Amino acid sequence: MSVTRLNTDGSQRAFREAQEVLVEGVSSPSRGTVNFGEYPIFLVRGEGAYVEDVDQNRYVDLMMAYGALLLGHSHPAVVQAIHRASAEGTLFAAASPVESRVAHLIQSRVKAAERVRFANTGTEATMAALRLARGLTGRSRFIKFEGHYHGWYDDYLVSAHPHPYSDLGLVSDPIAIPESSGLPPSALQQAVLVPWNDLDRLEDALKRYRHEISCVITEPVMANMGVIPPEPGYLRALEKLCHQYGVLFILDETVTGFRLAPGGAAERYGLMPDLLTYGKGLGAGLPVAAIAGKREYMDGLRWGGVLHYGTQNASHIGMSVAEANLSALKPGVYEVLENMGERLENGLTTLFEAHGVSGWVQRVGGMLQVFFGNQAPIRDYRDFCRYASRARFSQFALAMIHHGVYLSPSYSLHSVLSAQHGAAEIDRVLEVVDYVLGLQEGGHQ
Ligand SMILES: Cc1ncc(COP(=O)(O)O)c(C=O)c1O
Repeated sequence: MSVTRLNTDGSQRAFREAQEVLVEGVSSPSRGTVNFGEYPIFLVRGEGAYVEDVDQNRYVDLMMAYGALLLGHSHPAVVQAIHRASAEGTLFAAASPVESRVAHLIQSRVKAAERVRFANTGTEATMAALRLARGLTGRSRFIKFEGHYHGWYDDYLVSAHPHPYSDLGLVSDPIAIPESSGLPPSALQQAVLVPWNDLDRLEDALKRYRHEISCVITEPVMANMGVIPPEPGYLRALEKLCHQYGVLFILDETVTGFRLAPGGAAERYGLMPDLLTYGKGLGAGLPVAAIAGKREYMDGLRWGGVLHYGTQNASHIGMSVAEANLSALKPGVYEVLENMGERLENGLTTLFEAHGVSGWVQRVGGMLQVFFGNQAPIRDYRDFCRYASRARFSQFALAMIHHGVYLSPSYSLHSVLSAQHGAAEIDRVLEVVDYVLGLQEGGHQ
């Protein structure tokens, strides 16, 4: 199949109209011009590994709703569950048997999930987990790693996006950079910032602040600075340090949960976190999230303890989809993610060499990011801010989109495979990469 530049006039028109009613024409700023350039592509349909836009262009999808769709778009088991559950009643806001079934499915995959509480988004889950850790310990500060994103709750919105390296301060005393207007001043004082993948700095902070700190929260793989894997043994050692210094260990599996292994990163890296948070891949496109963990801690959410409410929690439709989703996530899915991830990584590496491009891939299973620059690998936030070329990535990603591969154009996010990405899809992606790199060598887009 040849590669051509798509006509996306319909998206351009739709964007003009959307701006008359929606702030920036979108419902989350990352979907707008900050990442997509002149106008975003307006999608109307998804099937397997593909999405279609308003102009009826078909794209291989490497964004997969930011990782929510492990089974791909419109998987028959998910569609069926939505039909059945919506006919039964979308929401009861009452106790229902399907919640226990989903909690059992989580428990059967995640050893540390002795108790589960459902929520709707990753942000809600991480917010509740922090409140729980604070309630249990009576301490309000927490350790957050530079460059980790845990949702848009005030206290987490510190040094979560890339910034010029010169703004970061010393590694021994990072400057807390607010990511939003409207944060109360106290929010900036809650997080003790520590560089990730650095056990010595973590232990220093634990020694210094142990009596003020409720928990350490971490992404298991840095997934909001491209893809940065943990150093071998790092997460196990982090868990040990948390126990040694008497603070709770929260593993934020919003991105990695049920993706990196049936039991997520906890299984892949052999961890027994005190608390875990889930979102994205749990609900297969429906807003379903969860806080899980050891019973002695999770029981802090009982009535009279730490408050966590939600009319939409464990909706009938969301739970029914989560049940169908988890039941369909069989071991074969993880083989596909690993094998296709490897095929894509190898193909990209070969093409970068062939085109003389100074780029590389960082990957864990079916999540990967392409980096452009001269300092491989990127090991932490500071490397990312200093060495990853945003302009080059954006130029590459937008050209890919306009030639039929839909991927996140934000360089701090990453590409995501699903169970529906087979050799044909990967090879098509590589064909488009080959074409786009060729174009860019010639100075066109
Ligand atoms: C690691 C991590 N935690 C939490 C969140 C917040 O999840 P949500 O967007 O569902 O609120 C995200 C979102 O990307 C995330 O990447």
